[in-house]
Amino acid sequence: MGVPATLISLAEVSEFKKALRQEQSTIAFVPTLGALHHGHLALVRRAKQLADRVVVSIFVNPTQFGPNEDFAKYPRTVREDIDLLATLNVDAVFLPNTATIYPAGYQTYITNRRMSVGLCGTSRPGHFDGVLTVVMKLVNIIGCDVAVFGKKDYQQLKLIEQMFRDLNHNVRIEPLDTVREPDGLALSSRNRFLSDTDRELAVRLNVGLRAAAAAYQRGENKVDTLVEEFHKVAKVGGIALEYAEIRRQADLESFESMVDQPPVLLIAAKIGQTRLIDNLELDKTIG
Ligand code: PAF
Repeated sequence: MGVPATLISLAEVSEFKKALRQEQSTIAFVPTLGALHHGHLALVRRAKQLADRVVVSIFVNPTQFGPNEDFAKYPRTVREDIDLLATLNVDAVFLPNTATIYPAGYQTYITNRRMSVGLCGTSRPGHFDGVLTVVMKLVNIIGCDVAVFGKKDYQQLKLIEQMFRDLNHNVRIEPLDTVREPDGLALSSRNRFLSDTDRELAVRLNVGLRAAAAAYQRGENKVDTLVEEFHKVAKVGGIALEYAEIRRQADLESFESMVDQPPVLLIAAKIGQTRLIDNLELDKTIG
């Protein structure tokens, strides 16, 4: 167990990077909003396999939260987070202040004009501008060789991949499968807000995704029928579904009516006051 270096200012990051350059180390980076759980730890473990040094950032990025969203009540557990990262021997934690990332007079934002439309983009206008902007800034500040992102935020992951491709940035983006509770619930920092009853309902989201995946495996290719398999399980009182959509894994484009390329079913729902997202890549080959 090694306590990670705590980097707050850009000058501290520069000093840290200078030392790594001297030892010719590669850097893997895991950006987070904090409130770390086992899903984040899986990202860190993957990062450790990919480079000599691992840097994690903890920054509750204000520009990705809308005016009526949970920025103020987003869990902030920095002490516990650093203790967890120490158990994995993370080399450094970047904990910037808001003024470091968005100094007075800040003006520049990154917008995706296609893949950000629809799905979470509908109910969270501006959210992905905030995500893309902060991810680009953090990756540039850390100067990493590879950055690791979870597939749970599938639209986010695809947008990030697209951004670095479009902007000719050569950082490698490494996607990692969603980590789940034994009953299938996707790990999320927001799960802590679910009451026992909410949590029971939340499990249905994954059961519904798996029902659609099973139908796809049995040979069902109709988009509406596959979504209906999800609805049969998850359309119940207490779950306010926001969307359930089948899209192409490659670029999140919609299908006409039949699935003819590898698909992913993406869903969002509010249970009580908690908004949850999840998804499953549908696959003909595995169970
Ligand atoms: O997925 C998250 O935790 C955040 O959106 C990210 C990528 C750290 C950007 O703030």
